[in-house]
Amino acid sequence: MPTTDTLHARLASIGQDHLLRFAGTLKPAARAALLAQIESLPLAQVPDLVERYVRHSPEFPVPDRLGPAPYFPVDSASPRRPWDHLEARARGEELLGAGKVACFTVAGGQGTRLGFEGPKGCFPAGAVTGKPLFAIFAEGVQAAERRSRRTVPWYIMTSPLNHEATKAFFAANHYFGLDPAQVMMFPQGVMPSFEMGTGRMLLAAPGEVATNPDGHGGSISALAVSGALDDMHARGIEHISYFQVDNPLVRVIDPVFIGLHASGAGTSAEMSSKMIAKTGPGEKVGVFCISDARIMVIEYSDLPRHLAEERWEDGALKFIAGSPAIHLISVRFAAKLAGDPAFALPFHRAEKKVPYIDDHGRLVEPAKPNAVKLERFVFDAIPLCRGSIVLETRREDEFGPIKNATGVDSAESCRAMQTARAARWLEAAGVRVPRRADGTPDCTLEISPLTATSPEELDQARLPRAIEPGAKLAL
Ligand code: UD1
Repeated sequence: MPTTDTLHARLASIGQDHLLRFAGTLKPAARAALLAQIESLPLAQVPDLVERYVRHSPEFPVPDRLGPAPYFPVDSASPRRPWDHLEARARGEELLGAGKVACFTVAGGQGTRLGFEGPKGCFPAGAVTGKPLFAIFAEGVQAAERRSRRTVPWYIMTSPLNHEATKAFFAANHYFGLDPAQVMMFPQGVMPSFEMGTGRMLLAAPGEVATNPDGHGGSISALAVSGALDDMHARGIEHISYFQVDNPLVRVIDPVFIGLHASGAGTSAEMSSKMIAKTGPGEKVGVFCISDARIMVIEYSDLPRHLAEERWEDGALKFIAGSPAIHLISVRFAAKLAGDPAFALPFHRAEKKVPYIDDHGRLVEPAKPNAVKLERFVFDAIPLCRGSIVLETRREDEFGPIKNATGVDSAESCRAMQTARAARWLEAAGVRVPRRADGTPDCTLEISPLTATSPEELDQARLPRAIEPGAKLAL
């Protein structure tokens, strides 16, 4: 543990010694905690980060020659790029049966847009049951285990802000029927929040530096630091099925995607992705592009408008491949990324309102953005990998994120999507579903992943023949 004096000298040399302004007023334990926190920050990098991202606002470097990324169409028989669906499924099932696949949920985000107190995974998402997001994913894990007869370990990245609450939620809910030994939760790293203009790190309290989670790209180092990668090695896991905590429609384990990832690039890909067709040029999703034979995701805010709006002759969007943030990452690739500084992911800059303690010890609640937060994005790893495939999936089957309190991508739109998907699946199985004049189902439906993760898995013998108008039915 450094003394206040040695740390003061180090901080002074990088223009950040104001962090210790109140250290002398703190009780010994609080002072020790402050010194330890400062010591854990990437101090050596701070001057460079301040120069590059805080004093300046760098444009994201969009490559000159950028084209739309190639992808495997959801219809494997499509003449555009036919592929062997059965073979991919068989390969995926083989890997699952050999216990080589784990789930990984990134759940460290702050969920500010949703306005929900507590970890987002605790949000009641089930259209009928109100089951929390974590419960729905746990059922997806159990469904995969039933099919493969193997344990599917589940890794969950939290943040220092919601880690204890997430752990307590799982304990209170008996791990949703899973074995606690197969669920590993670990907090992601943080970055200091910098004052705009000056580049000074802000104090959240006299004895605490203001920090923010370091983005889902921080998951790569968090997997290593937490011991999750070692745990995966010990269990013989080779592929990580990665998804975000906000999307209850996700197929947490998809044998077809796993199989294509493991063989579709000619060899096993290092990081693969699902894509959905964008609803329009302005949809707020990352976009799959290709440049110099490297697949990459360009975030919606970075994709130049003229490219986002470019269309083929038939009117279809050229840059149509939106990212639902569903990936497969090989464990070997994650270890390479985490262990080699040459593979460090870049930072992205965002301006935020961050309350802070001023030089007089007063708490300031800023009315407009006053700070820069730096985050890494996991999809920046895609252009670094040797092989990568993109597989199209149907939005209505697999992408109903809960991000906002109301409107687009809200709990309400997600409930409507759960009902619409269940209605289609049930109708395909011969069940009569009441529909309104506009074609939407006149009922509320929810199908647990334990019942089916695709229409083929529905057991007709256990289904009703028809659903009453206005009914609420959870299967
Ligand atoms: C994200 C993607 C976008 C994609 C869309 C699909 C980014 C920058 N953009 O947008 O390309 O099309 O999802 O829904 O990610 N998280 C952490 N730690 C963090 C920050 C985020 O674990 O420090 C997790 C969140 O808990 C959440 C996910 O990452 O599960 C997405 O984060 P969010 O900031 O909500 O991204 P979006 O802007 O919705």
